[in-house]
Amino acid sequence: MKYKAVIFDLDGVICFTDEYHYLAWKELADELNIPFDRTINERLRGVSRMDSLEIILEKYTGPALSDEEKERLATKKNDIYRKSLEKMSPADLSDEVKETLNALRNKGLKLAIGSSSKNTKFILQRIGLEGFFDAISDGTNITRSKPDPEVFLKAAEFVLEEPKDCLVIEDAEAGIDAAVAGGFDGAGIGSAAKYSKATYHLSSFKDILKYV
Ligand code: BG6
Ligand code: MG
Repeated sequence: MKYKAVIFDLDGVICFTDEYHYLAWKELADELNIPFDRTINERLRGVSRMDSLEIILEKYTGPALSDEEKERLATKKNDIYRKSLEKMSPADLSDEVKETLNALRNKGLKLAIGSSSKNTKFILQRIGLEGFFDAISDGTNITRSKPDPEVFLKAAEFVLEEPKDCLVIEDAEAGIDAAVAGGFDGAGIGSAAKYSKATYHLSSFKDILKYV
C-alpha cells in the first residue's frame, strides 16, 4: 500500500455541508447589503469562520465594525448554519462515501478527519459517523486556518504517522495548499478536482481506492 492513513476534509468531501455554509453566509450578507455570490464563496472553502467573515466584509461599506460586532455576526451565521445541520441525518451520508470509507478501513488504512470546522463532531454525529474515525483534527484544536498545514499535521500526529505516509482528500484549493505545505500528497475532489497542485484529481469519491 502506498499510504498508511487517509485524512479527509469534512465539508464538501464527506458531506455537502458546504452548501449550508454558503446559504448561511448569503443570508447574513444580504441582511448587511454586502454583495456575495458563489464566486466569492469559493474563497471561503477550508477557511475558518472568522477569516471567512473578513473575506465577506471586504465588500462591506457600512460603519466600521468592532471586534465584538464581528464576533456577533459570526455567531449569527453559525446559528443559521446549525439550523441546517440539525436537519441532517445518516441519510445525508452517501452510499458511495460509506462504502469507500469501509473499503479503505478493510485495507488496513487509518482514517482521520482534518477540518477547519468547529462543528465537526456535531456533523459526524448527525450523519452517523460518530466514533468512526481513528482521529479528528478540527477547528477546535488549531490556531491557524488552511492553507496553513497545522490541521493536517495534527491529524497525522494523532494517528502516529508521518505526513509522507498520509493522503489528504480536499475540495478546497486552500486545503490542497495546506497539504502540500505540510509534506502530504493531496487528492482534489469537487472544486479542487482540477487544481494543479493536487497530486491526484478525483472525479468521484470512490476514486480514492485507485490511489492508496
Ligand atoms: C470548513 C469550511 O470546513 O470549515 C469553511 O470549508 C468554514 O467554509 C470552516 O468556514 C469553519 O467552519 P465552522 O463550522 O467552524 O464555522
Ligand atoms: Mg471542504
